[in-house]
Amino acid sequence: MFMARAISKRLLAIVALTAISAVVRGAEPGTDAAPPATLATRARSELPKTMRAAAIDRPGGPEVLTIHTLPVPEIGADEVLIAVHTAGVAVWDAGIRQQLMYVSKPRFPLVMGSDGAGLVAAVGSAVTTLKAGDAVYGYCWDNPKGGFYAEYVAVAANCVARLPNGVTLDNAGALGASGLTALQGIDGALRIQPGESLIIHGASGAVGTLAVQLAKVRGAKVLATASGEDGIALVHRLGADAAVDGRHGDIAAAAHSFAPQGADAVLALAAGDGLESCIKALRSGGRVAFPHGIDSEPKPHEGISIVPYDAISGPEEAQLARLNRAIEVRSFEIPIAAEYSLADAAKAHERLAAGHVLGKIMLRVR
Ligand SMILES: NC(=O)c1ccc[n+]([C@@H]2O[C@H](COP(=O)([O-])OP(=O)(O)OC[C@H]3O[C@@H](n4cnc5c(N)ncnc54)[C@H](OP(=O)(O)O)[C@@H]3O)[C@@H](O)[C@H]2O)c1
Repeated sequence: MFMARAISKRLLAIVALTAISAVVRGAEPGTDAAPPATLATRARSELPKTMRAAAIDRPGGPEVLTIHTLPVPEIGADEVLIAVHTAGVAVWDAGIRQQLMYVSKPRFPLVMGSDGAGLVAAVGSAVTTLKAGDAVYGYCWDNPKGGFYAEYVAVAANCVARLPNGVTLDNAGALGASGLTALQGIDGALRIQPGESLIIHGASGAVGTLAVQLAKVRGAKVLATASGEDGIALVHRLGADAAVDGRHGDIAAAAHSFAPQGADAVLALAAGDGLESCIKALRSGGRVAFPHGIDSEPKPHEGISIVPYDAISGPEEAQLARLNRAIEVRSFEIPIAAEYSLADAAKAHERLAAGHVLGKIMLRVR
């Protein structure tokens, strides 16, 4: 235990040193003659060879998620190595752990975690947008080099962005996947316009809590269906214009008083009868969007368009940069339901299985 703490302090010092040297070099752009490849090599030589990671050796219950000592991943030319501070624990992580769901080429030990935040520890020779020491967050789906439940992760630089103003490494680990899913539902799939009425179903979860705030940034009027009294209180605090308990409340009545002529759109982050009630509350020509993965896909409804989508962090439209711009418009909260150490990743998964997570569960790696 004492040993582990001492090692982790040493790692922190190494990253801090790398960061400081990068900042000093960056302060004098005219005199910084080192090409990116040299920077990467120099940082690499200062890095430890091994790291702690929460990984699985076989599919199974939370108990298969244990701490491993693994090599720090190598980076390719267009990748960055991140010294992870915080990592998101997502609902789909349980499916990956139990059934290797969504993993295209399973290789054990499998380091879990598709999003997180930390300091750039090294950059590949072709990376020009980031430098060692930058505080970043990212989302990288099905990464063959391993996930964010680790002291270090190697990811494509275009899956990563600097932290938006007002967001710190303490909670940015919960932002990447959920924030992109929320914004791409609102902007991409639904094309919400200012003044439109939007029902967010399942608004007290990881994506929903961010979607409520981003929909307000886009000028929408928001009815949030939340889970429980505490979920309702949370979505009100985040700016929802109206809220109803989506499991036990009267969604039809709430939607009628929210948008008497019928609402314009539904962002579906949960399924079931509650979602049916939300869709029935739409005007003719209304739109529904849902990310793949919700329990059951909505049935077709005449006169209503239904758009499935997947969150992407890809390069084409600089998705994370757009998310940053939206977040920086107003004060923005990333609700963390519970935080666990890396060593307690299995406990984080037990908490996930218990349900009623308000916001997102997060791992603190450093
Ligand atoms: N395809 C993609 O790219 C992508 C990306 C992100 C997310 N997703 C999917 O999107 C969904 C939402 O993700 P998430 O991370 O936000 O999950 P989450 O944190 O579990 O959020 C779902 C929320 O819906 C609530 N809920 C369930 N039934 C409800 C009802 N009848 N009325 C009101 N609230 C209800 C849940 O509350 P309780 O737990 O208290 O019931 C939970 O807070 C998941 O199915 C996920 O797999 C897909």
